[in-house]
Amino acid sequence: MDPMPTLAANGLNMPVLGFGTFRLEMETVRSILPEALSLGYRHIDTAQIYGNEAAVGEVVAESGIARDELFVTTKVWVDSFQPEALTASVERSLQHLRLDRVDLLLLHWPVFGSSGMNPTLEALMRTKASGLTRHIGLSNFNIAQTEQAVSFCGEGTLATNQIEYHAYLGQHRLRRVLGRHNLVLTAHTPLARAELVNDPVLWEIGSQYGKTAPQVALRWLIEQDRVAAIPATSNPHHAKANIDLFKFSLSQEDRDRIAALDRGKRFVDPDDLAPPWDD
Ligand SMILES: NC(=O)c1ccc[n+]([C@@H]2O[C@H](COP(=O)([O-])OP(=O)(O)OC[C@H]3O[C@@H](n4cnc5c(N)ncnc54)[C@H](OP(=O)(O)O)[C@@H]3O)[C@@H](O)[C@H]2O)c1
Repeated sequence: MDPMPTLAANGLNMPVLGFGTFRLEMETVRSILPEALSLGYRHIDTAQIYGNEAAVGEVVAESGIARDELFVTTKVWVDSFQPEALTASVERSLQHLRLDRVDLLLLHWPVFGSSGMNPTLEALMRTKASGLTRHIGLSNFNIAQTEQAVSFCGEGTLATNQIEYHAYLGQHRLRRVLGRHNLVLTAHTPLARAELVNDPVLWEIGSQYGKTAPQVALRWLIEQDRVAAIPATSNPHHAKANIDLFKFSLSQEDRDRIAALDRGKRFVDPDDLAPPWDD
């Protein structure tokens, strides 16, 4: 099995393709994740709120894969953003995951109380200093919030902002900001919740390479500088297809056609969590 390309920005060594686990129940994780690992996935994306960290931990422990070959991300839920609560919640996550530390720890949504984001960022930085995680980062932060977090933590401290990004949501302005600060863009919802599976342009492009629309959609993401993608599936055939991306590359003309599919369409926009978006 060829090793998967990794992203090195800000010291990360994160495989460009991860296995997303949102909406996967514990039982589903127990059946699909071993398949995914045997297919070569080495980057797993979970979160406290997904309620499946324990199943991820179980599968990882039973996989026999060396710890340093795996990249595990989890995310702190917004109800644990008070500094003491944050540390305790990460310790609970580690117990569930059966790990001494995760590879990447994210703040799941930018939802802060009256004292703002700095106390939470400070607590996040402490988790890294005390070895609970190798890297720290953000998720769903808009431009102003990203700038504020980078300015508070210092350049090079945060590794990524995990945001919704796919062919139907171009994220042009936020992408420029992430690039300026050398932050990896981890693309969540990279298949636009399966809507891209039916896109005729992606199928037409894929036919030149013997690939499907979702494979083209994922390949387009990971060919970009400092972009990782974390598609989710409960279907072993889809898991296999989604990692079969490393033996073809898109032409510039095809990349431009995919970029032109942008329609500013967002699938993840919860009223109680989402910041004002920039697009
Ligand atoms: N940070 C955040 O706030 C946040 C928010 C949302 C998501 N995420 C992360 O991003 C991951 C992915 O997001 P998502 O699951 O919402 O959306 P997604 O990956 O864009 O789409 C998943 C959907 O696509 C289908 N699918 C996957 N591969 C396919 C293929 N090859 N052919 C046809 N259908 C395919 C899946 O169905 P099947 O099961 O039938 O394959 C599922 O319905 C999550 O698991 C999570 O880790 C993070």
